[in-house]
Amino acid sequence: NEIYLAGLAGRVPSLPMAYTELEARAAQALPPSVLSYVAGGAGNERTQRANVGAFERWGLMPRMFVGATDRDLSVDLFGLHLPTPLFLSPIGVLGICAQDGHGDRATARAAARTGVPMVASTLSADPMEQVVPELGDTPGFFQLYTPTDRALAESLVARAEAAGFRGIVVTLDTWVTGWRPRDLATANFPQLRGHCLANYTSDPRFRKLLGQDPEADPRATVGTWAQVFGNPLTWDDLPWLRSLTDLPLLVKGIQHPDDARRAIDGGVDGIYCSNHGGRQADGGLPALDCLAEVVDAADGVPVLFDSGIRSGADVIKALALGATAVGIGRPYAWGLSLAGTDGVVHVLRTILAEADLIMGVDGYPALADLTRETLRRVN
Ligand code: FNR
Repeated sequence: NEIYLAGLAGRVPSLPMAYTELEARAAQALPPSVLSYVAGGAGNERTQRANVGAFERWGLMPRMFVGATDRDLSVDLFGLHLPTPLFLSPIGVLGICAQDGHGDRATARAAARTGVPMVASTLSADPMEQVVPELGDTPGFFQLYTPTDRALAESLVARAEAAGFRGIVVTLDTWVTGWRPRDLATANFPQLRGHCLANYTSDPRFRKLLGQDPEADPRATVGTWAQVFGNPLTWDDLPWLRSLTDLPLLVKGIQHPDDARRAIDGGVDGIYCSNHGGRQADGGLPALDCLAEVVDAADGVPVLFDSGIRSGADVIKALALGATAVGIGRPYAWGLSLAGTDGVVHVLRTILAEADLIMGVDGYPALADLTRETLRRVN
C-alpha cells in the first residue's frame, strides 16, 4: 500500500521490486570478481539452480472464507520472540559488497531496523565486537568456522558470548572450500582476503599463533590463517563443540535426517538445513527437498533453513514444510551492493510483504496454519 500510495503521488521505488531485476541491477553495479564471488556456486552450479528450481515444484493451496485480515508472522525461537520467521544467513567477505567495505556493520543496521536477526559470519571485515552494537535490540547469532586450533575456536566463541550474540551456528560443510570455477577463474582470493580476517586479526589467540602484529606482515597473517581455517570435525568432536558454549548451539549444513538425529542426540539446540546455497558441492540435492525429512528427524527441535529462497512465496513454502525460520543469502547481498543498509532493508521488506500478502490471500492467518497440507506437488 505504501508503494501504491506513493505511486499516486508520482513516486516510484528507486530499488527493484522483482528479484530478477534486483540480481540484474547488482550484476551491473558490481566489479566482475565481486559478482563472481557472490553469484557463483560449485561446479556447473547445478545444485545452486536446483535449490531455486525446487520451489517451483510446490504450489500453495488457497483457502477461502477465512478473512485473514490480521496476520501474525511472529516466531518464538530459543526464548526469543521474533517479529517474523526471516533471518539473514551468514555471508563471509560481505565487506566487498559495501562501498565503504563495512558490509557487516551495514547489514547489522538493517537487522536493527527490521527486527530480522542476523547470523554474522566468522569471515567478516568488521570484528564481531563492532557488529553487535549495530544490531540494536535485534538478536544476532555468530557463525563459527571451526579452526584447527581449538584454543582459537574457544576464544572466538567466548568473544561472541561476551559481545552479546544470542546463539552459535557452527558451519559443517566448509572445512574445505568447494570447487568454484568462477572464483578459480579470477583467482579471487587476494581480492577477498582484505575483507574477511578481522575476527582473526583481532583475536588474542590468533595473534599468539602468528607471533607478530598482523599489520606487520600481511602475507604471514594470511599464511597462518590458511593453516588454521578449516577443521574436518567428526562426530567425536561434537561433545567438544557442545562444551564451547551455554548459548543455543546450531549446526549448519545438515541435509540427511540421520545427521539431524545424531546432532540432536549430541546436544545441539537447533538444526540448520542448508547446502550453502549450492556453493560447496555440485550435483547435490536441492536443500528444500531435504527439509521435510530433516524436520521429521528433528522431532520438534527447531529447524532453520536456507538455500534458494528468492521470494515471500518461497518463505511460505519452506515454513509449510516445517522450517521454524528461513534465511536468505544472495538476495540481501544484492541489496547491500545496490544501496547499503537501505538496500538490505528493502530486500527484507519486499520478501516479508509478499509473504504477508500470500498469507492473507491464501487464507492462512498465522504461521501455525502453514502445514504440509497447505502444499501440493506441481506436475
Ligand atoms: C555464503 N554462505 C556462508 N555460510 C556460512 O556459514 N558462512 C559463510 O561465511 C558464508 N559465506 C557465504 C558467502 C556468500 C557470498 C554466499 C552467497 C553464501 C552460505 C549462506 O549462509 C547461505 O547458506 C546461502 O547463501 C543460502 O543460499 P541463497 O539464499 O544464497 O540461495
